[in-house]
Amino acid sequence: AHNGLADRYGRVATDLRVSLTDRCNLRCTYCMPEEGLDWLGKPELLTDDEVVRLVSVAVTQLGVHEIRFTGGEPLLRRGLVGIVARTAELAPRPEISLTTNGIGLARQAQALKDAGLDRVNVSLDTVNADTFQQLARRDRLKDVIAGLEAAHDAGLTPVKVNAVLMRGVNDTDAPQLLEFCLARGYELRFIEQMPLDAQHGWDRATMVTADDILGMLTDRFHLTPDDASKRGSAPAESFLVDGGPRTVGIIASVTRPFCGDCDRVRLTADGQIRDCLFARTESDLRSALRSGADDAELADRWRRALLSKLPGHGINDPSFLQPSRPMSAIGG
Ligand code: GTP
Ligand code: 5AD
Ligand code: SF4
Repeated sequence: AHNGLADRYGRVATDLRVSLTDRCNLRCTYCMPEEGLDWLGKPELLTDDEVVRLVSVAVTQLGVHEIRFTGGEPLLRRGLVGIVARTAELAPRPEISLTTNGIGLARQAQALKDAGLDRVNVSLDTVNADTFQQLARRDRLKDVIAGLEAAHDAGLTPVKVNAVLMRGVNDTDAPQLLEFCLARGYELRFIEQMPLDAQHGWDRATMVTADDILGMLTDRFHLTPDDASKRGSAPAESFLVDGGPRTVGIIASVTRPFCGDCDRVRLTADGQIRDCLFARTESDLRSALRSGADDAELADRWRRALLSKLPGHGINDPSFLQPSRPMSAIGG
């Protein structure tokens, strides 16, 4: 018997990813259309108290020990600092991290650190201002760079950088981005684009693969595999750059899936449990919460939700169907 979030395949979810809003102030082409999306309404969103209550159930009843806040763009959530502070007071204290596009981080980094945030992962796909504008449809490169510096200075380390490469747009900027990160002590990870965009425009034939990325980088850098025993359930495969100690990561969800080691579960901004980015079903904790369920009932419902977790994401199956929720509404 297991009191945690075990699934039918022997995996146990100990890493909870909490989406705090589906909104974003960028419009990355691989994520959402120029006009944005039909955002969740206020009554649908969990309140700060509801978020903290569910996080508390996960940490105190279900063995979750890592909490990552995501979005959309989580810095747009007004109550973020307070939510982090209350999460840091839970016992046992979970590790707390944030995945953000970095806009506004310069202003909030120190307050987040003081509240108990441990580290940040910042999305940055290029350090070329024109390419940034083309990809994110907003001219905010400087804000992101300022956010990265503030996070590093505040000790929200290791600062990781996430980059999605799009063929013909920012793929050739990859070596320059790696130079930028190496020089500043940020841990860069390149991410294979997944079929999670709102427009359903993902195309396997044009996707930049892990092999493409490694090929491109080895023209400029000498890469050797990092100690594989350190990977655990991390999605990134790590490589030493020019003999180390600096590294670069590749998150190859599509061509080298890591679902067998998955330790994640997700809570959407509207209070639904998803056992996978690609889940076909969700479990409605918000209704249970709002109709007065106690912690034990919420924990039970949460455990049951994990029983439908599939062995893998199925992206490479002929019958694959993209989930109806886009990445921005699931939590990256
Ligand atoms: P740490 O390694 O703990 O820093 O976190 P992370 O890399 O898991 O978190 P982050 O939010 O930075 O995610 C980076 C990328 O990993 C995302 O953009 C996704 O592409 C990928 N990713 C995160 N979680 C999952 C997951 O559950 N499944 C898959 N296939 N990819 C994921
Ligand atoms: N495939 C892979 N990564 C994506 N992200 C957003 N959309 C996709 C996608 N379709 C990334 C963002 C961010 C992280 C949370 O997810 O760039 O780094
Ligand atoms: Fe915003 Fe992230 Fe989507 Fe870009 S990928 S539009 S930063 S939610």
